[in-house]
Amino acid sequence: MELPFIEPYKIKMIEPVYTSSKNQREKWISDASFNLFNLKSEQVTIDLLTDSGTGAMSDKQWSALMLGDESYAGSSSYYNLKNAVKEITGFDFFLPVHQGRAAENVLFSVLVKEGDLVPGNSHFDTTKGHIEFRKATAVDCTVEIASDFSAWDPFKGNVDLEKLEDVLKNNPLEKISCILITITNNTAGGQPVSMTNLKGVRRLADKYGVKFFLDSARFAENAWFIKTREAGFADKSINNIAREMFSYADGMTMSSKKDAIVNMGGFIGLRDEELFRQASTYNIIYEGFITYGGMSGRDMNALAQGLYEGTDYNYLSSRIGQVGYLGSKLKEYGIPVLEPYGGHAIFIDSKSFLPHIPDEEFPAQVLAVEIYIEGGIRSAEIGTLMADRDPVTRENRFSGKELVRLAVPRRVYTDNHMDYVAAAIRNVYERKDSVKKGFRIKKEAPILRHFTIELERL
Ligand code: F0G
Repeated sequence: MELPFIEPYKIKMIEPVYTSSKNQREKWISDASFNLFNLKSEQVTIDLLTDSGTGAMSDKQWSALMLGDESYAGSSSYYNLKNAVKEITGFDFFLPVHQGRAAENVLFSVLVKEGDLVPGNSHFDTTKGHIEFRKATAVDCTVEIASDFSAWDPFKGNVDLEKLEDVLKNNPLEKISCILITITNNTAGGQPVSMTNLKGVRRLADKYGVKFFLDSARFAENAWFIKTREAGFADKSINNIAREMFSYADGMTMSSKKDAIVNMGGFIGLRDEELFRQASTYNIIYEGFITYGGMSGRDMNALAQGLYEGTDYNYLSSRIGQVGYLGSKLKEYGIPVLEPYGGHAIFIDSKSFLPHIPDEEFPAQVLAVEIYIEGGIRSAEIGTLMADRDPVTRENRFSGKELVRLAVPRRVYTDNHMDYVAAAIRNVYERKDSVKKGFRIKKEAPILRHFTIELERL
């Protein structure tokens, strides 16, 4: 018998999983104005709100913390991280920041002006928030097939190069801040971008003389998909693939809370020294000195170690394998899930799950709340609430995409926990007709509203 593939680690420390009754959860979610962000962690049994900052660090990362050098300037931890960034990404210039959106803030302070365009595949919500906050526009040129939830395509995160070229061709080039490609494409369902596509973006960037950046939060998972799905990469290492991906870009932003498996941290990688100098000023204003950027020395040490662990092929196979395991369980139960399964999360199509709830009543949020009540599972709405209002018309941005995201933290839950999640969602599916009505908005913020929104039942 062939031995099964196993997680390339074992557990040294544990923390409790909280259980509760359905009645308790009904009350808690109502007290939380039906916003899952407002729940206390003790009110949650399995937390799939995000894979960001929720991973389990290794013994090597914890020991690296103890060696943190807390000097204000020029600490050894800074140089550890600088070396790791250079080795993994190839970028010579680097700025530490406290998380991904801080990298966006610093970089966009240099690049993005009012009236600009930032074309790419789908921008993450904070990325879009930073662009729109500067009165610029994020243009989503993701391939059409990404909106077909069941069509199988190995690289559904790709940018449509023709759409991208149209944006570059039909606008004054000084209005293009940069092209920004997110790997993997979180908003489109954790879907990867192929190497061929990245090469194509580079060609367009050169043809039109614009800069090209990678939002690299899940770059290692993207590299794993290239290795396992794209012709010519099966025998290449994750590190080689990652270096090649980065070689096509002028720079990168990184939320290290994802693929570098730390609870807080991020950085910017750059090729151009002049851009590095300009960004350094903003780094000092917003984040702290250029050799710590919002992180303590110990955090930079743990991050440096995490970059090596997060790019290990066996680790990535077990991590992406676990997400796929959850996806296949749900599919077996007849739940409409986005395919192929994402690298970090499974996405449920709420419009097929609850076809009787209209978009105006926020079906993805309705489903997320029902899944919480059923099993204490916290997920995230990727739908109209998250899409915010149009900055000009102030109308809700209904895209027809109403997804519930089950994001799996790294190295935290077992497959048994995944079985529990799948069983709870199956129960909701069996009683879906009893869910009669959706929500109405009581209170909302002008931008990034989903974090703090208050809802009431219709
Ligand atoms: N880019 C992508 C693709 C992301 O998914 C995120 C965060 C960010 C940038 C911002 O990074 O949180 O460190 O400031 N995504 C999390 C999520 C929050 O749940 O998908 P951050």
